[in-house]
Amino acid sequence: MKIAIDCDDAAIDFKDQIFDYLKKAGYDVTDLKYSQSHECDYPEIAFNLAETIKDGKYDRGFLFCGTGLGVAMMANKVPGVFAGTCHDVFSAERLAKSNDANVLTMGARVIGVELAKMIAEAWLKSQFQGGGSTRKVEKMRQLEKTYLK
Ligand code: RB5
Repeated sequence: MKIAIDCDDAAIDFKDQIFDYLKKAGYDVTDLKYSQSHECDYPEIAFNLAETIKDGKYDRGFLFCGTGLGVAMMANKVPGVFAGTCHDVFSAERLAKSNDANVLTMGARVIGVELAKMIAEAWLKSQFQGGGSTRKVEKMRQLEKTYLK
């Protein structure tokens, strides 16, 4: 599984620690560092990562900002990208198992980095379970097309 990670200025140290943790745990994770080469805020950072997911360059992505909210809102504007903000392990597992999301966001001003590491790993270890969730996830994909030209 190829994983992308990025953040805005509110979450740089938070992102660095999670990136290092995932690398040491053996994950194939790439830090996009979009803000290092572009004049930008969280919308462009989230949009850039979301496009790499849409294009199939990465299977899953992590986005961090102060709250995790702005980056999720922006990532969800890119077709094929389904992002959720998680600040607990249960939600992170359900984000994969029930919602089949390909982006998880967190807020560096909301939770500590040790909990964030647990949340990140719980999501990566979880897979979509299908079953009764398949119909609902497929509806999201169909309804998304309403505004696609
Ligand atoms: C700071 O720019 C803050 O607005 C941002 O990091 C994020 O929390 C937005 O949702």
